Amino acid sequence: MSSDRCWKVQELEGGIRLVTLDCPDRAVNTFSRRVLTELNAILDELQRPGDCSGVLFASGKEDSFIAGADLEEIARLEDRKEVEELIKLGVNTFRRVERLPVPTVALVNGACLGGGLEFALACDYVVAAETRRTLLGFPEVLLGILPAWGGTVRARRRVGLQRALQLVLTGQRLNGRQAKKLGLVDDVVPPEALLAAGRWFVKNAPPRKKPLTRLLTDNRWVGRLIIRVARRRVLRETGGQYPAPLAVLDVFETGVRQGAKQQYAAEARAALELSRHPVTAQLMRLFFLGEEAKRHARECVQSDEPIRSVAVVGAGLMGSGIAGLLADRGITVRLKDVSPEILARAMRRIRDHLAREVQRGRLSRRDAERVVRRIHPTHEYSGFRRVQAVIEAVVEDAAIKKEVYEQLARCTAPETPILTNTSSFSLATLSLPGMEHRLAALHFFNPAHRMRLVEVSSLEETDPVARSRAVQLALALGKIPVLVRDCAGFVVNRLLGIYLNHAIELLPVFDDPLRLESAMKRFGFPMGPLELLDLVGLHVAEKVAVNLHQAYGSRFRPPRLFEELRRRQKDEPVRLIERDWRGKPKVSGPLAQALKSARSGGAPADRLPAEPDALAQFVLAPMLNEAVLLCEEGIVDSPDYVDLAMVLGTGFPPFRGGPLSYGDSLGWDRVMELLTKIAKRRPEFEPCGLLRKLAQGGRLTRTRLDPTQGTVPPQTPPGGETKEDNSAPIPLADTKEPPSASPESPPPDSR
Ligand code: NAI
Repeated sequence: MSSDRCWKVQELEGGIRLVTLDCPDRAVNTFSRRVLTELNAILDELQRPGDCSGVLFASGKEDSFIAGADLEEIARLEDRKEVEELIKLGVNTFRRVERLPVPTVALVNGACLGGGLEFALACDYVVAAETRRTLLGFPEVLLGILPAWGGTVRARRRVGLQRALQLVLTGQRLNGRQAKKLGLVDDVVPPEALLAAGRWFVKNAPPRKKPLTRLLTDNRWVGRLIIRVARRRVLRETGGQYPAPLAVLDVFETGVRQGAKQQYAAEARAALELSRHPVTAQLMRLFFLGEEAKRHARECVQSDEPIRSVAVVGAGLMGSGIAGLLADRGITVRLKDVSPEILARAMRRIRDHLAREVQRGRLSRRDAERVVRRIHPTHEYSGFRRVQAVIEAVVEDAAIKKEVYEQLARCTAPETPILTNTSSFSLATLSLPGMEHRLAALHFFNPAHRMRLVEVSSLEETDPVARSRAVQLALALGKIPVLVRDCAGFVVNRLLGIYLNHAIELLPVFDDPLRLESAMKRFGFPMGPLELLDLVGLHVAEKVAVNLHQAYGSRFRPPRLFEELRRRQKDEPVRLIERDWRGKPKVSGPLAQALKSARSGGAPADRLPAEPDALAQFVLAPMLNEAVLLCEEGIVDSPDYVDLAMVLGTGFPPFRGGPLSYGDSLGWDRVMELLTKIAKRRPEFEPCGLLRKLAQGGRLTRTRLDPTQGTVPPQTPPGGETKEDNSAPIPLADTKEPPSASPESPPPDSR
C-alpha cells in the first residue's frame, strides 16, 4: 500500500491482522470521509474467507488513538444531503466492523473521543493503555451534536443505560482505569503490553460480562424512570437552552421504548437536525475559535526548546494553583513567598488537590508524588538564576509587584521573562524602567487547573522572546491563549467589571434583588451577579473595582453599595446570598441592610423592564458597549476573541456565542436604544463610536469560520444555504492606542 494511505494492514503470526490508522500530515487521527472509505476497502479484504483469525485496530500516532470525527470536514458540509451521507457512511462502516466474523480488538493508546470511541465500541474488545494521554469519552454534546454512528446504542449495550447517559450527556473524559471500572473497556495495560493484550483477546475471545448496572437498567420501566430523572436534571441545569442534551435523552428514550434498531434511526435523525441548529453553529464556532487562537499563539512561539524550569512568586490561591499545574506538566517549579508558614499552607493546598485527583482516579499515587517533588518552596530567591521564566502572582498591589520586580532584576538572569498574573493593572502601570522588555502578562483564571483560558499580553517594548515564552507556557499547560493588547483588566475583567458594577448599582431598585439573579440565570449565566460576587469575594472584587476605576474613570465608578457593605464588614468578609434550610437562596442580612440604606440615599431612577429577557439586556448593555469599545481600541485582533475569552473566562452563555455575537443577534440599534436610556442618568455610558456605526446596520463577529484558515467566509443563515454576504463585519478602527486613563471606580476579577 502506498505510504500516503491512512490505514496500513500488517500480518502478524497466527493469522492476526494489525490494522493501523495514521492520517498523513495530521497531528491526530480523525474520521473523515476518506478515512472511512479506505476502511471500507480494508473491511472488504478482511471479510473474504481466508486465514484471518482476528483483527487488532491500532493508531500509528504516538499518543493519540482517534480523536473523533473530522470536525473541519463536517463544518464544510454544505447541505442536509451531505450530512446525511456522512452519517450513513459511518453507521454502515462501524456496523461492518461489528459484524466481522473474527474477534476484533481496539488497542487504545491516547485520545479516543467521539467517533473514535464509537469505532472502538464497535470492536468486540477494547484494551486501553495506562497512560495519562489515554482518555475516552463522548464530547459531542459540548459541540451541540451527539454520537451519530451508533455510539449511543453501543455505549448503552456496554455499560448500561444510566452510565451511557452520563457519558454522553456530560462529555466527561475517562482515563483507562476509570473506563475499565465503568465497563467501557475490557482491560488496561501498560502501553508496551498493548499488542500482547490484543493478541490474548483474539486467541481467547472471552465472553464479556454484562455489568450489573446494565442488567438492572435494561428493564424498560426502570429505563423510563432513569430518563425522566435525567431530563429533569438537564432542564434544571441548562434551562432547556441547549438542544443536544435533550435530543440525547430522546434518542435513549426511543431505545428504551422501541429497541436498538429504532435507536440507531433516532440517533441519525437527531444528528441531522442538530447539525443545522443555530446553537450548534455557535458551539462549533467557539470550538474553532479556540483552535484558531491556539494556532495564532503557536505562530508567536520562537523556540522549540522545551520549558523545564519556572519560578512562581506568590504562593497564594493563584500562585499555588499555577505551581501545581506547572509541576503536573513536568516542569520544575521554584515557589517563592514571604514566609515558610505561607509556603507550607500552599504545599498543603497543592497536596490536597492532588489527593482529590488520585481519589477520582485521574492520577496515580506515584504520579501525584512526582508532581509534589517537582515543586521547591523557598522564601528566598534561591535558584532563580537558572529558571526560564518567572510568573508573578503576588497580591494585587502595584507597589508590591514593582518591589518584587526590583528583586527579580537582581536575582534572575538578565533576560528572564517576568510574566504577571495581574487581574486589574495594565502592564504599562507595572513596568519598571529598564525592565519593560522582560515584562508580559500571563493571566490565569481561578481555579488555574480547570479554567482553560489564559490571557496573554505584552507591551510594545516587550522582547519577542519574552512574549514567545509566555505563549509557549500557556500552550504547554494545555490552555487556550487569547492574545490581547495591554489594558487594565485585559478583556475579561474589564467586561466582567463593568457588568457587575452596573448590576449591583441597579440592585436597590428591585423590591426583590433575587429577581435580578434569576433573570441573569435565565439568560444563561451559570450564576447571578450576587452569587458570582460571593464566589470572587467582595473584598477582592472591590480591589479590582478600584483599580479599574483608576484606569478608566467614571464609566467604572464602583456602586455605592460596595461602600455600604464594607461598612458592615467586620472580621469576616460579607456574603451577599445565604441559603435557607432547603438550600434556597435568600438575601443576606448585611445586604438587606445595605440595600435599605442605599434606597434611603436615593436609588437610581431607572425604571427596569419587568420581563426577564429585557431586564438582562438592560443590565448587560454597558458591557456590550465596553466590548465594542475594546474592538475600537484594537485590544484584540478579532472581535470573535472577545467572545471566546468571555465564554471561557466568565461562563457567558456559550449558546449565545459571547457578548459580541449576542449584540449582533440582538441588533446594535437595540443596544444603542438601551444605552441612550441609561446614559440619561450615567452620561459616561454614551454608546462608543463603533457602536453607533454598528447601529446603522452591520455585525462584528463571524458567523462561520473557516476552520483551517480563520478567514471570513460568506455568512450562512441558520437555514443552511449560503447567501451573499451583505452583513460582513465592520472593519475595526486601526488605532492600537491603549484606552485613555482617567480616575474613578470598578469591580471584580473573574476569579
Ligand atoms: P493571594 O492573596 O491568595 O496570594 C498572594 C500571595 O502573594 C500571598 O501568599 C502573599 O504572601 C504573597 N506575597 C506578597 N508579597 C510577596 C513578595 N514580596 N514576595 C513573594 N510573595 C509575596 O492572592 P491571589 O488571589 O493568589 O492573587 C495573586 C495575583 O493573581 C493577584 O495579582 C491577583 O489579582 C491575580 N489573580 C487572582 C485571581 C483570583 O481568582 N484570586 C484570578 C486571576 C488573577
